[in-house]
Amino acid sequence: MKVTYVSSEGDETVIDLKGGVTIQEGAIQNLVDGIDADCGGGMSCATCHVFVDSKWVDRVGPPTALESDMLSAIPGSNETSRLSCQISMSSDLDGLVVHMPEEQY
Ligand code: FES
Repeated sequence: MKVTYVSSEGDETVIDLKGGVTIQEGAIQNLVDGIDADCGGGMSCATCHVFVDSKWVDRVGPPTALESDMLSAIPGSNETSRLSCQISMSSDLDGLVVHMPEEQY
C-alpha cells in the first residue's frame, strides 16, 4: 500500500508500506526527511507532525482528544494536522498523501 510524503518544498516520495505500519515508521525506515519522531512513536514528542492531504482527511479520521491537545500546541498546526505515529497504514489508506511541515516542533 502506498503513501506519498510531500516535503515542504513540494518534493514527493512514494513509499510502499505494509498494513499496520505507521506513517511515522514508514518515513523513518525509508529515510524520508521531514519527520523527526524523537519519541519513536510513543506519542509524547509531537515531532512527527504531518498535514493530511485535504482529499484524505475524512478517510484518515480525526485525532483522539489527547492527540488533538498535542497538535494544538504545535505552531502552524491546523485542522488537517495529525501525528503520523497515530496513523497506521491499511487498505483504506492505500494512496494516502501527507504533507510535511517546514520544520518539526
Ligand atoms: Fe513522537 Fe509521534 S513520534 S509523537
